[in-house]
Amino acid sequence: MKSGIFYFSGAGNSEAVAKEIGKLSDAHIVKRMNDTTKEDVEGLTQVGLVFPVYYFAPPTRIISFIELLLKNNIPSTIDYLYVIMTHGGMSSYGPSITERLLEENGYVASYTHTIKMVDTFIPITKIPSKQKQDVVSKLAYEKVLSIVQDIKNNEIKVAPRLPLSNMAYHLFRRISTWRYDYDKKFVVDNRCTSCGICVQKCPVENIILAGNSIEYLHHCEQCLACIHHCPTHAITFKKKPLRGYTYYKGPTYFTKRKDEQ
Ligand SMILES: Cc1cc2nc3c(=O)[nH]c(=O)nc-3n(C[C@H](O)[C@H](O)[C@H](O)COP(=O)(O)O)c2cc1C
Repeated sequence: MKSGIFYFSGAGNSEAVAKEIGKLSDAHIVKRMNDTTKEDVEGLTQVGLVFPVYYFAPPTRIISFIELLLKNNIPSTIDYLYVIMTHGGMSSYGPSITERLLEENGYVASYTHTIKMVDTFIPITKIPSKQKQDVVSKLAYEKVLSIVQDIKNNEIKVAPRLPLSNMAYHLFRRISTWRYDYDKKFVVDNRCTSCGICVQKCPVENIILAGNSIEYLHHCEQCLACIHHCPTHAITFKKKPLRGYTYYKGPTYFTKRKDEQ
């Protein structure tokens, strides 16, 4: 059996979940979707996809990844495909739309699950205190443990599709690219040191270094990784500048647990 986990992550929730599932289930490959090559997906028999819910749906990059996975890897080699979506409290149509996406590419998920984590959508939510983050992350970690058990047992468990999920799917396909120039709403001030962390963290290669600053390329997924991970807090929103405690870099609880072991 060759198993692989492929993840998309902005602030770091889905990355932490993917890496933990990978470690606990002895996956052969754990890779960011944007670094994944055709060779990585060839001959896999078990595949896990881990990504967040953005605007009640999956990130649009999932479309091209699913196409890469299923068109280049003969789908018949995959015996077990599972999808784990992290969210901030309303996974909504995320799983139903993903299931439809898989189906469009001739595949059916064996297992889907969602995990509530710290909400990273800072335009409307506040990042909680570290203690509150740990409470949410502890529950998330417990869910990871039970998911790993299910995966090891090859459980077949798919959440039922929500009513009107067909309509949600078509709406998603139609409007998903509208997000792309959202990066025009960002402003980068002179605290930018051109360190390149945002370039590395961006899961869709939407940022390049330009002189002493950065430039956005307008195919943004709105994951906000650049804002969350900027060490000098140089990036914010034009209309609603958010300064101060608005940054989150993934669940430190997951790392703390590892340190204690
Ligand atoms: C642009 C954006 C949109 C989001 N939309 C939703 C949503 O519709 N429902 C929800 O429950 N959480 C939503 N969230 C919260 C994320 O799904 C959640 O925090 C997730 O764990 C982030 O994972 P990541 O750190 O791997 O990007 C959103 C976050 C962002 C940045």
